[in-house]
Amino acid sequence: MNGDPKPAPALLEGEIEALIQAASRARENASAPYSGFQVGAALLAEDGRVFGGCNVESASYGLTVCGERTAVFKAISEGARGFRAVAVFTGAASPTAPCGACRQVLWDQCRDIDVVMVTTNGLIERCRLSELLPRAFEFEGPE
Ligand code: THU
Repeated sequence: MNGDPKPAPALLEGEIEALIQAASRARENASAPYSGFQVGAALLAEDGRVFGGCNVESASYGLTVCGERTAVFKAISEGARGFRAVAVFTGAASPTAPCGACRQVLWDQCRDIDVVMVTTNGLIERCRLSELLPRAFEFEGPE
């Protein structure tokens, strides 16, 4: 016995499939009239809950929120803490990685989770968030 945190259990095939389905369903709610690029995301919490999110665009383009951040904010605002994986589902020709802003927000709230990137044509890529965002910003408080 020691005080080390337990390593996160590896994702099971069934969990990955369920997460991909949730991201696909979330993508159906995307509101992307300006870009025409629909994004669905789904975040798996350690308590087993899955939170879907889609991109929501604004006529003032910069106010747009990505699917990944929608999923994170939904999860946090519902009280979820501790996460295992995020799936990102798009209609791009090849799997799409979360944008830089979403990488930081995912890191802030989820730390080094699995990232599963999926396309409507069935392509899948997986990595860890730390591969997408090495040396993430950490706020250590005011000087
Ligand atoms: N988008 C996401 O939802 N997630 C990303 O990681 C990158 C981009 C959205 C924002 C915008 O609605 C559309 O994709 C095109 O940039």
